[in-house]
Amino acid sequence: MKIIMLGAPGAGKGTQAKQIADKFQIPHISTGDIFRANIKEGTELGTKAKAFMDKGELVPDELTVQLVVDRIAKDDCKRGFVLDGFPRSIPQAEVLDETLAKMGEKMDYAIDVDVPDENIVNRMGGRRACVNCGATYHIVNVPTKVEGICDKCGSETILRDDDKPETVQKRLSVYHTQTQPLIEYYKKQGILKSVDGTLPMADVFKAIERILGA
Ligand code: AP5
Ligand code: MG
Repeated sequence: MKIIMLGAPGAGKGTQAKQIADKFQIPHISTGDIFRANIKEGTELGTKAKAFMDKGELVPDELTVQLVVDRIAKDDCKRGFVLDGFPRSIPQAEVLDETLAKMGEKMDYAIDVDVPDENIVNRMGGRRACVNCGATYHIVNVPTKVEGICDKCGSETILRDDDKPETVQKRLSVYHTQTQPLIEYYKKQGILKSVDGTLPMADVFKAIERILGA
């Protein structure tokens, strides 16, 4: 099963993608998480990506696309995968389609997690991410057991640099101009499904399970 998670920044793509990956035992591939891991390790890719991420802009395709193309060619992706944060523009979607076509494959579902802009800003301000394992929380909706400490690994949880309100606005505007056109793109392919991302997380996941026939 090959699934794309679409949705605005903070819509809940990562939250749902993790659960899909667990349930179907397929890799969760998040370009944002890959960039953040590189930033943490201080790699050249991380340094380059950070400059764009901190401004709320897309990281250029030459740093992004090959990374995903290589990742989905790995053995553990043979049974499928869930893409979170990629593709983020029509050109990225076209490369993905071409890459899969060469392998005799295609995407099965593009799931749009639909959340209006007004809800997003609140969510992002409350999100906390673990500096070590990347687990995400929300100070109201999904609090850690001990404030500021990751339940899973005991490391510190922090506000992501790009979750500051002014950067969130920029990310939303980039989403509307560059990423939202993908909804129409996948609708035309007949694989678009939408879920109401304002529902509680467990209900969003139930809606996704129904779509995936699980
Ligand atoms: P990326 O990491 O992909 O960020 P994003 O798309 O902005 O999305 P987020 O991770 O912020 O949100 P999410 O939808 O995963 O929501 P989450 O589940 O965490 O990308 C970051 C940056 O990297 C980009 O800006 C760009 O610069 C670069 N980049 C990445 N991919 C790229 C690409 N392909 N090309 C170019 N550049 C790229 O949930 C958010 C919060 O809400 C959490 O606190 C969560 O607990 C809470 N929450 C989730 N669901 C619910 C719910 N149903 N009800 C209430 N609260 C909820
Ligand atoms: Mg995410």
